[in-house]
Amino acid sequence: MTDLQTGPGAQTGPQTVQQTGQQTVQQTGQQTRPPLGDVILETRDLTKHYGGVHALEGANFSLRRGEHVAIMGDHGAGKSTFVRQITAVEQRTRGEVIFDGRPVNFEGPLDAREAGIETVFQTPALADHLDVSDNLFLGRERTMWNWLGPFRRLDYKAMRADTMTALQKTGVKIPSIRNTIENMSGGQRQCVAIARTATFHSKLTIMDEPTAALGVQETAQVENIIRTLKEAGEPLILISHNMRQVMDLCDRIVVFRQGRNCANLRVEDTTGGDVFAYITGAKTQAEYADAA
Ligand SMILES: Nc1ncnc2c1ncn2[C@@H]1O[C@H](COP(=O)(O)OP(=O)(O)OP(=O)(O)O)[C@@H](O)[C@H]1O
Ligand SMILES: [Mg+2]
Repeated sequence: MTDLQTGPGAQTGPQTVQQTGQQTVQQTGQQTRPPLGDVILETRDLTKHYGGVHALEGANFSLRRGEHVAIMGDHGAGKSTFVRQITAVEQRTRGEVIFDGRPVNFEGPLDAREAGIETVFQTPALADHLDVSDNLFLGRERTMWNWLGPFRRLDYKAMRADTMTALQKTGVKIPSIRNTIENMSGGQRQCVAIARTATFHSKLTIMDEPTAALGVQETAQVENIIRTLKEAGEPLILISHNMRQVMDLCDRIVVFRQGRNCANLRVEDTTGGDVFAYITGAKTQAEYADAA
């Protein structure tokens, strides 16, 4: 069973979106969106097998600069596996990842982050024993000149001030930013990971179910962060089960089923009901007939 909620959409049927797309300016609701650029991320035949489990099979995917694409699919469809292969949390079984114009083989998630991919994982990868501020700036610590000697020292004051600003953007209430992560709720942890994304500009942001553990107010704030990324022309992959959210925020929806792509839909040309049909297997686009 899936926990998808169907939501509003245009009345026309689904249409295949050219992966290299020709649109320049997109309009969703009242919002005029900046033009899309060239391809920032492409995967070819991306595959991950865990022993006999074919979690991801031959994923061909492409994302343009400025584009916000949702990945939807039932539980176990391979969405997080897809993210883990791009960000090198695991090593892929086969296939290619082309990022920012070159094939990449990251050694691990930090390597991917250094290359410009900021990821909010489904289970946030935070350092449990560190506080919020340390987690936010992990690997990117701010320093200042130490007037007592020739070395730079950590600028805790600036990092704490920036942490407060970043957390305010997510709307989450955390009693103290000196609290270590291990004492926080799932939603609070998620907000720390999102705050990190909102603080550092990256070439690509990936969010794997960022609002699944959040309340209504925090969800609205995180959706505002996503809109800000859109306005700034920063590309996003958003994994979500929330149809309303995806329809509101994204340009395109890619559907995964049993580890395979089965649809590539432009949001303005599709309806929640259609997306649901692709997710459940009632429909498959002709070019993905292998997934049927
Ligand atoms: N380390 C692993 N070892 C074996 N099987 C795994 C491993 N990680 C994931 N899988 C399997 O791969 C498949 C895809 O899992 P994945 O986590 O990518 O699904 P998902 O689409 O993100 O689901 P959800 O919506 O529940 O987050 C599932 O069948 C899962 O059980
Ligand atoms: Mg997942």
